[in-house]
Amino acid sequence: MIPKETVDRILETARIDEVVGEFVSLKKRGANMIGLCPFHNEKTPSFNVSPARGIYKCFGCGKGGNPVNFVMDHEQLSYPEALRWLARKYNIEIEEQERSPEQIAKEGERESLFIVSGFAQKHYTKNLHETEEGKAIGLTYFTERGFRKDIIEKFQLGYSPDTWRDLTDAAVAAGYKLEYLVKAGLTIQNEEDASKYFDRFRGRVIFPVHNASGRVIAFGGRTLKTDKKVAKYINSPETEIYHKSNVLYGLFFAKKAIMQEDVCYLVEGYTDVISMHQAGIENVVASSGTSLTIEQIRLIRRYTSNITILYDGDPAGIKASFRGINLILEESMNVRVLLFPDNDDPDSYSKKVTPEALRDFITANTKDFINFKTELLKADVGNDPIKRASLIHEIVDSIALIPDAITRSVYVKECSRILDIEEQALLTELNKLRRRQHDKKREEQSIKEAPLPELPPDVTAPEDFVPDQPAREGDHTQVKSGEVFERELVRLLLNYGQEPVVAKTTDEFGVEIEVTVPLAELMLHELESDEIAFNHAVYQQILSEYTQHINNGNVPDLNYFVNYPDQNIAQLAVDLVQIPYQLSDWERHFIYVQTESQLLRQAAVHSVNVLKLTRLEQMIAENQKQLRDTTDDDAQLKLMQQQLNLLNAKRHFSSLLGRIILK
Ligand code: CTP
Ligand code: MN
Repeated sequence: MIPKETVDRILETARIDEVVGEFVSLKKRGANMIGLCPFHNEKTPSFNVSPARGIYKCFGCGKGGNPVNFVMDHEQLSYPEALRWLARKYNIEIEEQERSPEQIAKEGERESLFIVSGFAQKHYTKNLHETEEGKAIGLTYFTERGFRKDIIEKFQLGYSPDTWRDLTDAAVAAGYKLEYLVKAGLTIQNEEDASKYFDRFRGRVIFPVHNASGRVIAFGGRTLKTDKKVAKYINSPETEIYHKSNVLYGLFFAKKAIMQEDVCYLVEGYTDVISMHQAGIENVVASSGTSLTIEQIRLIRRYTSNITILYDGDPAGIKASFRGINLILEESMNVRVLLFPDNDDPDSYSKKVTPEALRDFITANTKDFINFKTELLKADVGNDPIKRASLIHEIVDSIALIPDAITRSVYVKECSRILDIEEQALLTELNKLRRRQHDKKREEQSIKEAPLPELPPDVTAPEDFVPDQPAREGDHTQVKSGEVFERELVRLLLNYGQEPVVAKTTDEFGVEIEVTVPLAELMLHELESDEIAFNHAVYQQILSEYTQHINNGNVPDLNYFVNYPDQNIAQLAVDLVQIPYQLSDWERHFIYVQTESQLLRQAAVHSVNVLKLTRLEQMIAENQKQLRDTTDDDAQLKLMQQQLNLLNAKRHFSSLLGRIILK
């Protein structure tokens, strides 16, 4: 258990922009920040972060919440684990007892796999630095490759001795369950005979793989044997916490630099990432030997839209990668390439030259991908007309994938120059291809469900209090039960409860006067005057809390509910919170902003009246039913009188509302 005071401290300290900023590149937009939503795929940002309100909200997929919710959702953690994550980030110490293995077992499988992987990493690292075999074989190997001590430590490199159960035995002795070691891919168990098991990684140096928030999720083990029959690397299998196609090696160590430099270098292997770091270039990730996946590209796109691919100079390998690069172009990213001299890869080259020379080399030799591809293929073709035609096709194939029209036309010009071909010829080919791609997409899309519409990035709307959830009114059962109206009232309370409004009342002499009160007070008064409580538990809970606060003379602010310990309430608060759009300057000049207080009061009173009207409708229906069921004359008379009163009241509220909303 985390003590309540510590929880409060974590919630007070955590800043939504800093937490989200760990995973998403955010740009300032007025008082808010926006970026690409990490929870659904989009190319134009509709993911909003409001530092003032302490929440994030995506207008594309609807996800939203406070910092804890973000960590829970993004890292797939439980509530206490998300709190621990935040505590780690903000160096807040949690004074709690060491968790016993039983407690750990209760935390859920994913968490157990994280914990067991963390244990394994520490064990391998300890082997490397503290055992004779580790030092003599593993550490010597790394040192001879030129890895500095601080870099070996930073990447938490390790060593697994050449025995059968070193890790498994140590883990089991420390109280970890064999089941989780197997599920984490660390231990291999004989399918027929469960008593037979052994370590996956044996006699290898170990490269731990971290997820974007720095937790160890997998390992790569490199053999030190030169025997060609032994696989150079053994890697963790797919597990519940490790999906190879969604992971980029080094991302955790690179993400800050990627955002700062606004470019991500893509290399092939573990050692390339590490050597580049050692040379002071930290915006580097590796796809770890496989071709780049769409998920990995989207992961990078959260931090930057610029990728530079660093190749060793093997032409066959380069050509093989062209398909994959088309995927990157399609995702609206700018692709550049850098070719290292023959026989060098980033790892070897960075060790031959000084860090300054490496930087200069990169700057001087980075080429735009399309130009690079054009020149490379052109060199192969010579004057053979058939080959030339297929070359043009190949190039245009890439250009056609670029979503932005202006970028496409720039490339057409460039290629027409490089290939010495009429621009028009390229354009004709391009348009043909784009039509074909378009048709293909349409076909695919009609199979899949329609994607969510994306908001244009610079959408602006009137500030703050314009109702933003009219869509819900369409749902008949929700209308009938009054849920929408209760919800609307809670929304107004949470967002504008503190706003001052002018209300009419009578003074001690019965003279009508105007007073200024917080909106909440007016609303609660209106509800209480007819003894209205909410039917829906969560709404009622917020209403009673609110009333209690008002009676104590304070108006709770939004953060109070957004950070409420009961997740149902916190989530509801987030759903209902509005992130104010910033009016642009010209709108400020031209829009006649009616006094906000006036509109607010109208909105609140209107909503209260609508709710009352719903209640009346329900009472009328109930009354009618009783009338039908009653045979007793006296009772009937009484019910009929009641019915008349109810209908009168209904007429009154309907005329107040100006229109009849309910059928
Ligand atoms: N790889 C792998 N399995 C292999 C070979 C390679 O998983 N049998 C992956 C590893 O992630 C490796 C990357 O592909 O890092 C690149 O391969 P390679 O260039 O051969 O390895 P390096 O990491 O460069 O290792 P070294 O420099 O020690 O040869
Ligand atoms: Mn290599």
